[in-house]
Amino acid sequence: MQTIAWYTSLALMLLLTIVFLRVVGTSGRAAAETDAAPADAYRYRGKLLWLIIAAGVVISFVTLLPWPHELEASPNVDKVINVTARQWSWELSDNVARVGDRVEFRVQSRDVNHGFALYDPSMKIVAQIQSMPGYTNTLQHSFKEPGEYQILCMEYCGLAHHGMTAKFTVLPSAQQQ
Ligand code: CUA
Repeated sequence: MQTIAWYTSLALMLLLTIVFLRVVGTSGRAAAETDAAPADAYRYRGKLLWLIIAAGVVISFVTLLPWPHELEASPNVDKVINVTARQWSWELSDNVARVGDRVEFRVQSRDVNHGFALYDPSMKIVAQIQSMPGYTNTLQHSFKEPGEYQILCMEYCGLAHHGMTAKFTVLPSAQQQ
């Protein structure tokens, strides 16, 4: 599914680029015919366009390299916790972790879309990921502070959406104890 979406987007982007370049080409010619004076300006504008396109390609390539999906293959995980969402509760294979541990949450749903969100003791959100039926989404997180964390649902999922909470305990690291 993601592959199809990717190729469709790519084809549409290519189509848009071709249309855009044709419009730029014809408008430049039409303007040059009616007004010969700012020809230099049009020449620079063409170069600027190519510069912007080249910069766009380079920036897209560099920023898409650390695509989150590659994290799934990461072996540097200290603890894996399976999370199953359903209307309206969270089921966790474990609800304790230590500060500094790299925890991987494997999140899925039994029914509709939910949003898995971790809040620290001061109710500031520290990490979140979608919880979807038919998919397992992985979220990696290292807790920095010990305490009682909360899991809340971030996506409206029906009548008792607001009550879809769970507790998660973060203990001090082994060295801190
Ligand atoms: Cu589950 Cu909102």
